[in-house]
Amino acid sequence: MDKLFFFITVAVLSINCLAVCSARIVHNLTTDQEALDAFKTRIISDPNNILANKWLTNTSICNLIGVSCSRKRQRVTALDFSNFGFSGTIAPHLRNLSFLSYLNISSNNFTEVIPLELSHLRRLKEIDMGSNNFTGVVPSWLGTIPELQHIFLDNNSFSGSIPTSLLHNNSKLQTLQLADNFLNGHIPQEIRNLSA
Ligand SMILES: *[C@@H]1O[C@H](CO)[C@@H](O)[C@H](O)[C@H]1NC(C)=O
Ligand SMILES: *[C@@H]1O[C@H](CO)[C@@H](O)[C@H](O)[C@H]1NC(C)=O
Ligand SMILES: *[C@@H]1O[C@H](CO)[C@@H](O)[C@H](O)[C@H]1NC(C)=O
Ligand SMILES: *[C@@H]1O[C@H](CO)[C@@H](O)[C@H](O)[C@H]1NC(C)=O
Ligand SMILES: *[C@@H]1O[C@H](CO)[C@@H](O)[C@H](O)[C@H]1NC(C)=O
Ligand SMILES: *[C@@H]1O[C@H](CO)[C@@H](O)[C@H](O)[C@H]1NC(C)=O
Ligand SMILES: *[C@@H]1O[C@H](CO)[C@@H](O)[C@H](O)[C@H]1NC(C)=O
Ligand SMILES: *[C@@H]1O[C@H](CO)[C@@H](O)[C@H](O)[C@H]1NC(C)=O
Repeated sequence: MDKLFFFITVAVLSINCLAVCSARIVHNLTTDQEALDAFKTRIISDPNNILANKWLTNTSICNLIGVSCSRKRQRVTALDFSNFGFSGTIAPHLRNLSFLSYLNISSNNFTEVIPLELSHLRRLKEIDMGSNNFTGVVPSWLGTIPELQHIFLDNNSFSGSIPTSLLHNNSKLQTLQLADNFLNGHIPQEIRNLSA
């Protein structure tokens, strides 16, 4: 009987711990703020002084230029930093923007590989990273993001061949723009209406 009680107690404690532990990693606007703070630290050049003049630290991130939030939940849903003139790398912390559905950082000077962590952005529908200086292979993990419909990676420094898993694993994909990279193999300039 004592033993049984012990087991039940342990089981109840474990369930409590599970609830508490998962509550601790619940994401909120503070998490989003931390993600954008980390993003800022990786910007090494900002010739238009956007971070200094337009990204005041005493305001909610939802009021920052280029940032949109959902009205209901107050979570970041869209980032449009296109043509901001940023140079730098992409912080893996962007993975914590769990409500992000639109990411446009086209026409900047982001370099190095796109962090694998961004595969955690399960609500992402559109990603535009065109006209930057990203390197490495075309990320095949983009094919594992369930809602992703439009992918623009044109005019970068990607190399290798187009991963077929990117095309096969995502039934919602409509646009995949990869022109002006260093890809090999047979590459269509532009692939549209993939699901048609
Ligand atoms: C966000 O969650 C953390 C704990 O995970 C909490 O300390 C903080 O107060 C929350 N912030 C908001 C704005 O709800
Ligand atoms: C934020 O700081 C700037 C300059 O530091 C100031 O002009 C502005 O009024 C402040 N805004 C708020 C909401 O406190
Ligand atoms: C990203 O921004 C550029 C410049 O504002 C725009 O031309 C382009 O259509 C945007 N991409 C997407 C997928 O909306
Ligand atoms: C956000 O992402 C980073 C990098 O992937 C991670 O180390 C960190 O724990 C995350 N932060 C929160 C609050 O979830
Ligand atoms: C792009 O960024 C790299 C460093 O990451 C720098 O060497 C280069 O000058 C930048 N190019 C432009 C046009 O800003
Ligand atoms: C990418 O790098 C090359 C060589 O460093 C540079 O000429 C080009 O301007 C860069 N692209 C962007 C978008 O800054
Ligand atoms: C590619 O990126 C460079 C640097 O931003 C830009 O000057 C050029 O117009 C872009 N080319 C195309 C075809 O978009
Ligand atoms: C992606 O598709 C390939 C076949 O093209 C398959 O082998 C692989 O298991 C799939 N990956 C995921 C994560 O669904």
